[in-house]
Amino acid sequence: MSPIILPAIDVLAISGSLRRGSLNTALLRAAQEEAPAGMAIEIYDYSDIPLYNGDVEAAGFPASAQRLKDRVLKADAIVFAVPEYNYSFPGVLKNAIDWASRPYGKSAWSGKPASLVSTGGGLGGSRAQYQLRQVLMSQGMFVLGAPEVFVANAATRFDADLRLSDDAARGLIRQQLAALAALARRLAAAA
Ligand SMILES: Cc1cc2nc3c(=O)[nH]c(=O)nc-3n(C[C@H](O)[C@H](O)[C@H](O)COP(=O)(O)O)c2cc1C
Repeated sequence: MSPIILPAIDVLAISGSLRRGSLNTALLRAAQEEAPAGMAIEIYDYSDIPLYNGDVEAAGFPASAQRLKDRVLKADAIVFAVPEYNYSFPGVLKNAIDWASRPYGKSAWSGKPASLVSTGGGLGGSRAQYQLRQVLMSQGMFVLGAPEVFVANAATRFDADLRLSDDAARGLIRQQLAALAALARRLAAAA
């Protein structure tokens, strides 16, 4: 019997942390390593995007924001890595989401499947994830419910090279990516 070849899945990965040593971005690198066959994950650098300002938008969409928007539109699915800042997710991430949601009615996020991962303190960034989940609902995104990936006590879960060293967390990421692939394929088939 010949093997079933599933269509490739292009995943855009967005970290809410811009710092080089980010543990949340490190989770996305682990996701690249754990991705199922046929899934490619690109970690996107959006650090060049300006603060959202309606006057700037009216004068012409900044090239950096348009580039993000185009990349989101092209993606089959999105994975967000979500640091917790003051019980919520970082403003830089909200800013990027806001730019790619514009103009009103033309959001690049609309209809995209997504999953969330986070690492942080004792609650693993869960408060931030739930707040982000609410924002993504406003965009008509299909955010995967389970499995959830909260990597608690971040300081103990990565090696000196910032590689995720926790096998249980890697297993959860693997399961989540498989579920995301299935969701993306179901949505594509229904479109
Ligand atoms: C402004 C700010 C606020 C923070 N607030 C929280 C918080 O509310 N709860 C928490 O567990 N960690 C908090 N932290 C710690 C970060 O979640 C932690 O340093 C995390 O590793 C940052 O993500 P990164 O490693 O991907 O940059 C905060 C950090 C910053 C910079």
